[in-house]
Amino acid sequence: MKKKSSVILAILILVTVLVSCEKLLPTPVKDEDVLAGTIPGLTMQQEKLHLIGDAAFAKIFTTEEGLGPVFVQNSCSNCHTGNGKGHPSNVVTRFALVNGPSVDYLIAKGGPQLQQHCINDYSAEDLPSEANVFTKRMAPAIMGLGYIAALNDLSILANVDSTDLNADGISGRVNYVNPTSFFLPQSIHVSNNGQYIGRFGKKAEKVTIQDQVVFALKQDIGITSDFDMVDLYNYKLGVYTGDLIPDPEVSVDFVNSLVFYMRTLKAPPRRDAEDADVVAGEKLFTQIGCVSCHVSTFTTAESDIAALSNQTFYPYSDFLLHDMGTALDDKYPEGSAASNEWRTPPLWGLGLAEESQGGLFLMHDGRATSFENAISLHSGEAASRRAAFIALSDAEKAQLIKFLKSL
Ligand code: HEC
Ligand code: HEC
Repeated sequence: MKKKSSVILAILILVTVLVSCEKLLPTPVKDEDVLAGTIPGLTMQQEKLHLIGDAAFAKIFTTEEGLGPVFVQNSCSNCHTGNGKGHPSNVVTRFALVNGPSVDYLIAKGGPQLQQHCINDYSAEDLPSEANVFTKRMAPAIMGLGYIAALNDLSILANVDSTDLNADGISGRVNYVNPTSFFLPQSIHVSNNGQYIGRFGKKAEKVTIQDQVVFALKQDIGITSDFDMVDLYNYKLGVYTGDLIPDPEVSVDFVNSLVFYMRTLKAPPRRDAEDADVVAGEKLFTQIGCVSCHVSTFTTAESDIAALSNQTFYPYSDFLLHDMGTALDDKYPEGSAASNEWRTPPLWGLGLAEESQGGLFLMHDGRATSFENAISLHSGEAASRRAAFIALSDAEKAQLIKFLKSL
């Protein structure tokens, strides 16, 4: 009898402990709630390479490793925190001297980008007095970029309507840019008199992920690679006074691992796609013509990463440039993109932005702090769609925004 009751007591204690442990454990984070993880279908080897890239992305560079001498941040993940959108308190500033059609990025004066930090015993850049235009850019989320990189240019060109032949008021066009010296065109790339179609960056000024990585290493962190061997320096300190670390400061493998990491980050997951309001919201989004630019569906071409071949994905972007009107005009042209033109940003992942940003900050510089605010900033080619949104009932507006939050 005694034995039996002590067994019962022991069981009771065990159950109590288990229940209270359960309470102590944090609620498990669901896959659909995080901006991390790999695209489905990678091989074990590719998963390993992704992890190496993940570490490269989070790496904090030290002076001994070649940081600077001038820089904006010392790590990729300082701006692309948790792979999500950045914060408006942490933007990059670019400048130029613009005079009518002539644009001088003031390279000899430290352009195109301001590096406001420096290593010890050096002096940081300040804005050159010659500059007359300045643009601020907040870091975009970097999930799902591999799908975008695997698109055939023809899929992007399919939505081009430069002269608005279909008379819907919207005339997306591509940004043809000069390729970098290390760009190796693939069968997905269409050339136009030696220029190529940009698909990354806020004004579609970068053709490949690699272009952006090499640019970021140098312009954001002050790190040279085999693809760009010339360090940043403060022009005020002399013709060439870089850091004393031999170039290249990172290996080809390091650059490749960053590219591989971004190619294999999964697309942002959706939540509540079946919810009745979300479904109604997407219908409204289509009806009032948001989809003229925020195109829902694309399919990738063949890719050397099998998991990226012939995949259908849902970015809600056409990757084209649009005139967005005067309020968003940053007076800063890039490539053939005019200062009032911006690439339609993908809307996938927007529902997770607030969590990853610690607040909601939308548009290229993070100036919009709500979805309504972001939509009300749409002008230029998008003016009729903004008007159509404003004309919706409050209940319909709420449904459309619930749809955006499900992305
Ligand atoms: C100082 C902040 C900052 C740092 C550090 C930084 N980035 Fe960025 N990143 C940005 C901003 C801002 C943009 C948008 C620039 C633009 O389009 O004008 C961007 C754009 C990108 C894009 C293009 C995404 C798209 O959808 O078009 C990629 C890829 C990228 N960064 C990768 C990296 C990598 C890799 C590193 C580290 C080597 C890095 N970034 C470091 C701020 C940063
Ligand atoms: C003419 C093309 C066009 C149309 C039509 C359009 N958009 Fe946009 N949208 C853009 C561009 C370009 C931006 C980025 C502007 C910037 O960064 O300054 C943007 C940004 C956004 C953003 C913020 C995204 C972010 O990451 O910060 C949201 C949300 C959005 N659009 C929703 C809508 C909705 C809803 C509609 C329909 C009422 C719509 N858009 C119609 C081109 C368009």
